[in-house]
Amino acid sequence: MAIGVALFSSLLVLSFVSPISSLSSNYYDKTCPNAELIVANAVKNAAMKDKTVPAALLRMHFHDCFIRGCDASVLLNSKGSNKVEKDGPPNVSLHSFFVIDNTKKELEASCPGVVSCADILALAARDSVVLSGGPTWDVPKGRKDGRTSKASETTQLPAPLFNISQLQQSFSQRGLSMEDLVALSGGHTLGFSHCSSFAGRIRNFNTTHDIDPSMHPSLAASLRGVCPSKNRPKNAGTTMDPSSTTFDNTYYRLILQGKGLFSSDQALLAVPKTKDLVEKFAGSHKEFTDAFVKSMIKMSSITGGGEVRKDCRVVN
Ligand SMILES: *[C@@H]1O[C@H](CO)[C@@H](O)[C@H](O)[C@H]1NC(C)=O
Ligand SMILES: *[C@@H]1O[C@H](CO)[C@@H](O)[C@H](O)[C@H]1NC(C)=O
Ligand SMILES: *[C@@H]1O[C@H](CO)[C@@H](O)[C@H](O)[C@H]1NC(C)=O
Repeated sequence: MAIGVALFSSLLVLSFVSPISSLSSNYYDKTCPNAELIVANAVKNAAMKDKTVPAALLRMHFHDCFIRGCDASVLLNSKGSNKVEKDGPPNVSLHSFFVIDNTKKELEASCPGVVSCADILALAARDSVVLSGGPTWDVPKGRKDGRTSKASETTQLPAPLFNISQLQQSFSQRGLSMEDLVALSGGHTLGFSHCSSFAGRIRNFNTTHDIDPSMHPSLAASLRGVCPSKNRPKNAGTTMDPSSTTFDNTYYRLILQGKGLFSSDQALLAVPKTKDLVEKFAGSHKEFTDAFVKSMIKMSSITGGGEVRKDCRVVN
């Protein structure tokens, strides 16, 4: 999918990557000392009302960082003829933007013009993991918000049907390794997927196999039940793993059983390097969470923008 575009834009993407050292853990200590507390409370309150909020915020941060760096480009609204990332095709799973909006309003009331939307999203992603029972970590801060968002660029996101070489390429274009790929894929321990992301695996897979042979037959059978080929309800789909609101390493154990939901999940067994990591993370919650934290910090340090937006939905 859109490999031409991805290849062509790899230099462009890399030019947005700034040194990790431009971010710091104590960035708001003087200018907005309560920033982290305000974000944490807002995420917690929203998650209490809707348990799908943490997964949504974690996913939103990934989407943000993969396009133009973590610059809150995913939060901008379309204006005039400019269709933004939010309105690009892979957006069905993006929601809970209101959490970021409400947090931003509170932050503007206590320290106007100081905390970037990109930092709010990075903090909210960390808080989402913590609220789901996952690890915590210090989020480096000081990201700036970008002024550009294009729906067409969402084709550069790694897609659920990617094979291992496409995944590797997509991650390496952003300075992320095979280890980062396997660790960050663990984010699939949270959340929900619509049928469209795996429908190609459960019917008419190819001319010789109706069902993707890398999928366990019992999973295929149950997915066929939730995703009928005719009269499928618009929001039909399934949780990414059975403990979809708990941040754990079940995701990796399922892959080893042929029960990864996406081709891109099951593809992690395709080469020894990533297969070994899946086995390591399946066998040890601690190995997984340590690697996840390291990779999150790396991914969320791909910076982009140049301003601190007043309203996360519009450029200043
Ligand atoms: C997703 O994009 C469609 C148009 O392509 C738009 O109508 C919809 O509001 C977008 N969803 C979100 C959550 O922004
Ligand atoms: C992955 O998909 C691409 C594009 O369809 C293809 O060129 C490549 O050979 C595939 N690689 C593997 C390892 O299957
Ligand atoms: C169908 O997929 C299977 C498993 O990936 C593969 O072994 C087989 O060669 C494919 N058949 C065709 C006709 O592409």
